[in-house]
Formats: sequence, structure tokens, C-alpha cells
Amino acid sequence: MAIVKPFLVVYKTTMENGKKLIAGNWKMHGDAETATALAKAVASFSAGPPMAVEIVLCPPFPLIQVAAQAVAGSTVKLGGQDCHAEAEGAHTGDVSAPMLKSLGCTYVITGHSERRIHHRETSGDVGRKAAAAIAAGLVPIICVGETQAERDGGKAESVVAAQIGESLPKSCSKGNFVLAYEPVWAIGSGKTPTAHDIAAMHAHILSVAAKQTGLANGEISVLYGGSVKAANAKEILSIEGVGGVLVGGASLKAEEFCKIIAST
Ligand code: PGA
Repeated sequence: MAIVKPFLVVYKTTMENGKKLIAGNWKMHGDAETATALAKAVASFSAGPPMAVEIVLCPPFPLIQVAAQAVAGSTVKLGGQDCHAEAEGAHTGDVSAPMLKSLGCTYVITGHSERRIHHRETSGDVGRKAAAAIAAGLVPIICVGETQAERDGGKAESVVAAQIGESLPKSCSKGNFVLAYEPVWAIGSGKTPTAHDIAAMHAHILSVAAKQTGLANGEISVLYGGSVKAANAKEILSIEGVGGVLVGGASLKAEEFCKIIAST
């Protein structure tokens, strides 16, 4: 006898097109040769059977162009890992949102905890960067997340709410931004929150962001990031309120990243 699923819960968590977003943050890894090989492998995987997924690769700035060549003609999208709040100017070493756009990027990560910690970026800075991204026609992936000490102190939700308060610019509207919940203690550590804690924080983020932007919860996408790998991707992606994943270390291995994509 065929087993009929009595009820399929379709929880609208993600992009307007209903697709989960799988983003690979390569951080400061690779070179022209490895970036080409990795991007080509992901592009050829994406050419397989259609999946309800949007794939984004975020290479380091100098490797965006080789990655763009490698994914040309595929559905794989590109993103930067940061951008400056100004469109141009005397800012040695910085990269603007219009530059990323001109290279074919669709997305840009803003407010990653490594920028908040190592470059002392405040949520105000992140909000200005996200505004610049939106003005340039890029979709900012705005990262928020608490430290271990903040979680232990029972402050995770208030810290994240305060980050959202300043990191989301007024120009945020339906479909032009994405949030990513990345607990700092889960990044690169092999540790992940429980499914219950992820669901609770995503519900919190959705409600805070909805209130602030005037959007409905279902019109906002919140990714989870922090030690996502092939072995836990399916479970994480099935948690209510998770619109996709932002993957660091595991996005550097083509096979592992493609398994994560296939988990949607
Ligand atoms: P990780 O990094 O997957 O290596 O933990 C995630 C991130 O920093 O975006």
C-alpha cells in the first residue's frame, strides 16, 4: 500500500521564488586555480536535475572574476564577502558595492562576525554597508549572531535583536535583503545549536525583522550559518524558519558543498 503523507507543511521561509539559498563563503582561501576548479565543479553539479535551490558562491575579491568565468552559463550566482559603505572614493584596499555588481555579483555578505570582530565593524557600519549594497542592486546577506558568553549569559536574543536594529537599513524591502543567523561560537568550531535553539532564534529574528521592516515573516529569508556540513545540512534545512545556509569551511570542498546543495 502506498504511504500517503497526510499533510505537507509548506512553510514559506525563503526567497520569493520559494527556493532555499545555499551560500558558500570561501573566506580568505584559495587561488585562481583552485577557485576555478571549485566554481566549475559547483556549476556542473547545478546543471544536473533541477533543484529548488539558489546557489551562491562568495569568493575573495580577487577571485570573483575567475569564479564568474567558471560559472558562466550556469544558474550559480556570485557574491562578495564585504563591501564599503561608499560607492567610490579614497579608501585604499576597500571594494565598493557597484564594483561587485559590475563583476556580475548578485549578493554581498555584510556584517560577518569575522568583520565585526577583526575589523571592529559596528552594527551601524553594517547597516550603512547593507544600504550601499541595496543601492547598487545587490542583495546583502546581513549576518547577526551572539558569542558564547552572550548565550551563556542569557543575552542571545537581545544581542541579536540589537544587531538587527542597526544592521538593517531603512531601504530593506521584500526580496532585496537576506539575514543570516550565525552564532559566533558555532563558526568553524564544529559546534551547532540544537534544532530547537535554531528554530527559536529564527522565529525571534523573523519577528524582530518583520516588525522593523513592516514585512510579513514569510517575506523575509533567514539563513543559518556555523559548522554546516553534509552530515547536518538536511536536518538544519528542514528546521522551521530556516531559509537556507551560509557555509564556510565545507564550501571549500566541492563534493561536500554539492552534498549540502543536494540536502535541500
Ligand atoms: P563555517 O563558517 O561553516 O566554517 O563554520 C560559516 C561562516 O563563517 O559563514
